[in-house]
Amino acid sequence: MKMEYPNVPADIVESESFRLDVCAGLRQQQRSIPPKYFYDAQGSALFEQICETTEYYPTRTETAILDQYSVEMMGLIGQSCALVEFGCGSAVKTPLLMRHLDSSAACVLIDICKPQLEQTEARLVAQFPNIEILAVCADYTQLEALPLPISCDLRPVIFFPGSTIGNYTPEEAQHLLRKAAKLIGPNGSMLIGVDCKKDPAVLNAAYNDKAGLTKAFNLNLLARMERELGAEIEPDGFTHYAFYNPVPGRVEMHLVSRFDQVIRISGEEFWIGAGEIIHTENSYKYRPDEFQDLAKSAGWHSEIFWTDANKFFSIHLLRVS
Ligand code: AVI
Repeated sequence: MKMEYPNVPADIVESESFRLDVCAGLRQQQRSIPPKYFYDAQGSALFEQICETTEYYPTRTETAILDQYSVEMMGLIGQSCALVEFGCGSAVKTPLLMRHLDSSAACVLIDICKPQLEQTEARLVAQFPNIEILAVCADYTQLEALPLPISCDLRPVIFFPGSTIGNYTPEEAQHLLRKAAKLIGPNGSMLIGVDCKKDPAVLNAAYNDKAGLTKAFNLNLLARMERELGAEIEPDGFTHYAFYNPVPGRVEMHLVSRFDQVIRISGEEFWIGAGEIIHTENSYKYRPDEFQDLAKSAGWHSEIFWTDANKFFSIHLLRVS
């Protein structure tokens, strides 16, 4: 996509899409801002801290499942494979699989954030000197072909942990999974982490941690708009509001306006009434059978899934069908 603007630095292109997306989102009757904009340096650091809170169970639960079942997982996938991680970030969980790879295997790390990608690559190269590691700076949702300049004898397997799939609507998730099946080809498989439906009290606590980190993460979107777009926003004008909505089966995050106010961005004014909301994130939760159906509708078949004792989180092994 960046090739459309050959003479313009990447950060300017990025901040232009941020401005366009924010303004388009604020113009809608049901105002929203795409959740991908949470992850600037501050937002990414806050997310890492959220993952450490006692309330936010997904990270430690998925890590424990990987730790417990990685031998079985890699036995089914094959130790000589090409592990392709979508949106690897700091790839904290990847070593739990990589430790079982043999020296003919390869690992392809894909992430949009170049500095973090380079750090992650350097760390994994040092930790696994015998495994070929390739870092690709790209948006995994936009990939049209797999960046795999590695041996075609290796069976590719997408690693997509973190329940990031839950941040897409089921329709978007189906589209993304279908695209991933095409990308990985008929021999491919996918190991994907999916957060499960559960007691709403557990979910509500996970997105309203006592330390206020999720609140800070949500409000950082407004701070980012001020920093990067010069947006004028009333200090303390919004509150964090997150709750589980059992009808669509998702945690919703919103910013709620505390009073009548106006947000100004690049000469445009957005009048927001007291109590009006800006929808900032959905986090869909799936029962394992619901996710298997979704995967099936997107050209995958679920071979097996692993879960924890509380059935809070699931990791599915999918094969292209
Ligand atoms: C990245 N993603 C799976 C997280 C989630 O749980 O939906 C993002 C997050 N939002 C608030 N807390 C964590």
